Amino acid sequence: MTIIRGATTIENDCKEEISASVKELLDEIFSVNALKKEDVSGFLFSLTTDIHSYHPAKSARECGYDFAPLFACTEPEIDGGLKLCIRLMLFTELMENRSVKHIYQKGAKILRKDISEVYNIALDGPAGSGKSTVAKALAKDYDILYLDTGAMYRACGLKALRLGIDVKDETAVKEMLQTINLKVEYQGGKQHTILDGEDVSTAIRENAVSMVASTISAHPVVREKMVEMQREIAKGTSCVLDGRDIGSVVLPNAKYKFFITADSKVRAMRRYKELLSRGETVDFDKLHAEIIARDKQDSERAFSPLIQAKDAVLIDTSDMDIESVLKAIKAVIQSKI
Ligand code: DC
Repeated sequence: MTIIRGATTIENDCKEEISASVKELLDEIFSVNALKKEDVSGFLFSLTTDIHSYHPAKSARECGYDFAPLFACTEPEIDGGLKLCIRLMLFTELMENRSVKHIYQKGAKILRKDISEVYNIALDGPAGSGKSTVAKALAKDYDILYLDTGAMYRACGLKALRLGIDVKDETAVKEMLQTINLKVEYQGGKQHTILDGEDVSTAIRENAVSMVASTISAHPVVREKMVEMQREIAKGTSCVLDGRDIGSVVLPNAKYKFFITADSKVRAMRRYKELLSRGETVDFDKLHAEIIARDKQDSERAFSPLIQAKDAVLIDTSDMDIESVLKAIKAVIQSKI
């Protein structure tokens, strides 16, 4: 079940205005969301207490929206609330992963802060802590974007690998950056990392890229470029970002910050299973040693290291499944809305 919200206002409490506004609101919700009759399970209107002259559910029925149950009720009066306002919750059976647009007309405002404000959720932590799984699930539940910032450093690392550049050589890396064409695109809500015109979303996940990405990401020149892109994306859109320095450097003002960690053996086991499922053969002990080395390198670099921001909530996922982690994070978010 997905809910689409909408609201409109009228100037005078009269039947004609109520009917015209309800029709206009419904027409826009349907056209903007490309809704079909069969997608809809019900309409719930609510009215401010200053509207008496007509029933918006009746208006909706009269203009053809009679194919699903309709109901209307009066809202309690709220200090500072809008005058002469009609709100709507439309229940649909749209595919869960399809994003919806809420419609607010004629000065009506969204009162739910979580869907009205642009807000960011910062998830930082070491490799294999479960950040990306949690970030994807949160983005889906809140219907916001997921930005995997590690993918951007991985793309830089991949380019260096392919060109045979020594990733420790700052001058060579700087030169490489001058010609890099890196883009983050979204198709059906899924992030695609485009390097010099090629979709490298799968290639960057190879284990060989991990350490190279960590080494290249230590150069300030690389970080400055990536951070600028990340801030640009996060500025205009609510999103969940996962990385190492999101809460501390990229978005120090992010509304919600979490530091997700887990015991290194647990993290290595998760990565091990993930790589095996992708057909990569790896040795567990070697992988564990690599994860420890990567943590050390990411945490000890001089510029923008992996660090728990002072105001980030720490979550140790060693003994938690994804559902419990999500529950814990959502409880914190809910308490801050
Ligand atoms: O999250 P990941 O494993 O995909 O990240 C790969 C490397 O990129 C990681 O070892 C360090 C670096 N990185 C970073 O320095 N800052 C970020 N915000 C994200 C990743």
